Amino acid sequence: MTALKDGLVTAASGGIGDAMVRTMLTDPILERVFAVSSSKEAPKDLRNNGKLNWIQCDYSSVDIAKTASRLLLMNCNLVMGAICNGVLHDNGIKPEKRMDDIQEETLNRVFTANAIVPILWVKELKKVFSKRDICSIAILSARVGSISDNRLGGWYSYRASKCALNMLLKTSAIELNRKHKNVKLISFHPGTTDTKLSRPFQSSVSRDKLFTPDFVATKLMDLMRKTDVDGELAYLDWAGAPIDW
Ligand SMILES: NC(=O)c1ccc[n+]([C@@H]2O[C@H](COP(=O)([O-])OP(=O)(O)OC[C@H]3O[C@@H](n4cnc5c(N)ncnc54)[C@H](OP(=O)(O)O)[C@@H]3O)[C@@H](O)[C@H]2O)c1
Repeated sequence: MTALKDGLVTAASGGIGDAMVRTMLTDPILERVFAVSSSKEAPKDLRNNGKLNWIQCDYSSVDIAKTASRLLLMNCNLVMGAICNGVLHDNGIKPEKRMDDIQEETLNRVFTANAIVPILWVKELKKVFSKRDICSIAILSARVGSISDNRLGGWYSYRASKCALNMLLKTSAIELNRKHKNVKLISFHPGTTDTKLSRPFQSSVSRDKLFTPDFVATKLMDLMRKTDVDGELAYLDWAGAPIDW
């Protein structure tokens, strides 16, 4: 009997997460799509989709580990994953304009959402990475995590958390290359995408540079299907172009 090929999306109720779920559901290669979210239920129009398995998770380390164990019990054979968790602004969180805006609590919350939660997903999902098929895991990062690209300054917590995420992923890729040679990690910059996260900052973005979540999800799926498995972390933008660290 051949194992099913499964896809997974975390932060499945977010703008990009939701689009990734919908795009994966249309992929004939994937037999099941696991969608993980802090929301209890899938969007109404997807609730009867037989391919979709909706899992609620509070993103604590305990619940992330439990979710991965549950996937293992369901014989998950992960060939495609999109880790879409992230925060730029939230109740009480605003991107810092200057050093004097830096707050310990903001740094902690932004690092947790953007670096700690995603790396815990990679750590725990290792147990369900496909052992036979190519397994592409994209983690939503951002170009502002690039040290060499930082010319404007500001956004201390967000920039630093994405930079930390990239280092955590680079270190993971080195380790995965020893025992999981069929796994490719992609640190992905979606471009400015029309979601709750970017909404307060869209006024300075021209319409042709503001992407729909569907466009970004299609680009990311193409990248995940085509990217070579070479034991390296790729840091790529929506067009598949490499970003300097
Ligand atoms: N939109 C852009 O322009 C843009 C640009 C560059 C990079 N990105 C990155 O793309 C990813 C997805 O962003 P998006 O645009 O889809 O934003 P979004 O619509 O705000 O979705 C983000 C999702 O992340 C989850 N989340 C929220 N707070 C969290 C926390 N404290 N801990 C863990 N998870 C949390 C939630 O998922 P659930 O509701 O399902 O639990 C939320 O819906 C993020 O990593 C973001 O940094 C986005």
